[in-house]
Amino acid sequence: MGLSLATAERWVERWERQQQRYAVDREERFTVIGDVVEQTVTGGPATPLVLDLGCGPGSLAARLARRLPQADIVGVDMDPLLLELARTHHPDAARYVDAVIGEEGWTQALRLDRPLDAAVSTTALHYLGVDALHRVYRQLAALLRPGGVLVNGDHFPHDDTRLAELAGCVGRRHAERGHALAHEDWASWWTAVEQDPELTDLIAERGRRPRQPKTAAADSAARLSVSAHQRLLRQAGFGHVGVVWQYGASHVVVALR
Ligand SMILES: C[S@@+](CC[C@H](N)C(=O)[O-])C[C@H]1O[C@@H](n2cnc3c(N)ncnc32)[C@H](O)[C@@H]1O
Repeated sequence: MGLSLATAERWVERWERQQQRYAVDREERFTVIGDVVEQTVTGGPATPLVLDLGCGPGSLAARLARRLPQADIVGVDMDPLLLELARTHHPDAARYVDAVIGEEGWTQALRLDRPLDAAVSTTALHYLGVDALHRVYRQLAALLRPGGVLVNGDHFPHDDTRLAELAGCVGRRHAERGHALAHEDWASWWTAVEQDPELTDLIAERGRRPRQPKTAAADSAARLSVSAHQRLLRQAGFGHVGVVWQYGASHVVVALR
């Protein structure tokens, strides 16, 4: 399944552009997450341990590794193709783990040797169903050291439908001004990947994986508002929970142990 560096680089660069369509002000959001993690680990252990949930091709892990070269970063994802892009393009940024977040045994698969100082995620946790998300928040609260932080950058709808529409409009206007909508979308990125002969084995491996059971729309965390997330985080045992950054529906939610 060897992948050349040039191929990985090409697909990761296209991924970075494609994702700008979905994460409003994506680069700034990564920076804010880095600010929170840096502030939390400063004065803590010499080698902080950080977990990137749904790391994809290593976008956040690589940025964090540049800011915190002393940190040990573990990236977890269930997609073999995205993990292989991460391992090839950002080999030194993180140790990458192939596991399904929320499934039985996923925390053991991480093989963590000490409590986490930080857990981070971007545009990933909304894939979980509400029950799985609640379980994962509780597991993360147990994996983090006291004072450790969970930082989640994702899009969350407003509770209020009118405000949800306005937030969507604010995000769209931002994307138009930054020409983010000119980039290819998720479906065309995957269609193009499937046509690359160098990725044939990885596509086949992806096809062999059991698809995640599609959560009924009403049960998907994608529909949870930011206040619902905050409630779940408090129930999971986090003491200080809130939003530190927002642009349209794109938020950075922070929860401290
Ligand atoms: C939209 S991508 C975001 C990737 C990266 N964090 C970024 O910001 O570019 C969502 C990622 O979450 C992963 N993912 C979704 N649900 C997952 C689960 N239950 N376990 C592991 N990975 C999951 C997907 O495979 C995908 O790589």
